[in-house]
Amino acid sequence: MIAVIVVSSFAMAIHPPSHVEAIDPTTLNTNVEFAECNLGTRVNPDGSVTVRIIATQFEFLPRCIPVPKGQQVTFRVTSPDVIHGFFIAGSNANTMVVPGYVAQLRTVFSTAGNYLMPCHEFCGLGHSEMWALVKVLEGAQWKTDASGKASCEIPR
Ligand code: CUA
Repeated sequence: MIAVIVVSSFAMAIHPPSHVEAIDPTTLNTNVEFAECNLGTRVNPDGSVTVRIIATQFEFLPRCIPVPKGQQVTFRVTSPDVIHGFFIAGSNANTMVVPGYVAQLRTVFSTAGNYLMPCHEFCGLGHSEMWALVKVLEGAQWKTDASGKASCEIPR
């Protein structure tokens, strides 16, 4: 047991298990990558899909997140204020969003449908109201505009 702990901690020190990337939370509003027009789902020139999200008291920007079924999606999330939780129910996407860092994770959705994305770290009085919706789309439902951007709206 001790050997397992020692070996795994040593191995993890060499290969950090999580992606560590710093960002200045106080200048997030002027950050190019996380500028408002660059938030949400984007198909990159190489065909890969990146979703950029700002988690802030008490909402995710954007609130509706379309992604393609069966394709790897990279999520990049950051916060300008306090720690939030990034969790997509029914998937393995689960991480904390800490101000000052970009949380990045990749996942593949194998089933189309709506996935609830609640904030799962207590972040203040509006915590329970803080959620977004991931729409996993397939076929003709999945489409982008000329710039590669995809968007959706929360059904009422
Ligand atoms: Cu954001 Cu709880």
